[in-house]
Amino acid sequence: MSHIIAPSILAADFANLQRDIEMVNQSEADWFHIDVMDGVFVPNISYGMPVIAAIKKHATKIMDVHLMIVDPDRFIKDFKKVGADILTVHYEACKHLHRTVQAIKLEGMKAGVSLNPHTPVAVLEDIIKDLDLVLIMSVNPGFGGQSFIENTYKKISQLKALIEKSGSNAIIEIDGGVNDKNAEKLVVTGANALVAGSFVFKSQDPMQTIKDLKHLKY
Ligand code: DX5
Ligand code: ZN
Repeated sequence: MSHIIAPSILAADFANLQRDIEMVNQSEADWFHIDVMDGVFVPNISYGMPVIAAIKKHATKIMDVHLMIVDPDRFIKDFKKVGADILTVHYEACKHLHRTVQAIKLEGMKAGVSLNPHTPVAVLEDIIKDLDLVLIMSVNPGFGGQSFIENTYKKISQLKALIEKSGSNAIIEIDGGVNDKNAEKLVVTGANALVAGSFVFKSQDPMQTIKDLKHLKY
């Protein structure tokens, strides 16, 4: 299967959100990546339920929701209601990660866990079989437009080995600073899904940029 491209709506023009959603619908992108920030887990606030519900009204692709919030268990049902297909929580934000993952699946969503740049892959050893997705942060979460952290490649290799050893079906998603300089190496190393915010939406021709990310030469 070819890799998945997930444009991050955080970098869209919020005053022209419907236009940008339609662009993603028409493009070769696979998912909508939707970043939720609470100003506590990360030093920024993005958007919440009403905006996600509005995106869902127009989006024709999978809604990949990335929660950068503390204690996400409080809102699992609400994110299902507003249209999340994949719900990813942060390892660092969950006291009872196993319970949280089960609760996400019980709502009929795919369950993802995200790791901050400083969090080793090995912490997932006892939960990897329960996960549909692991999101490796390749920048510190909170903002779009930051530079890619090179240590990510090592983490992808380690995660790929853990997934293979355990017989997990989890897919590997990379988020932060993805562009045409690192996309190919990320996929060759083992990434299955690439999130791209600024690189897509700040480009001259976002549809073409998505196409280029989708058709890497490897
Ligand atoms: C950062 C978010 C990312 C962000 C990526 O905390 O999780 O999804 O939108 O943006 P770029 O691609 O600009 O680094
Ligand atoms: Zn994200």
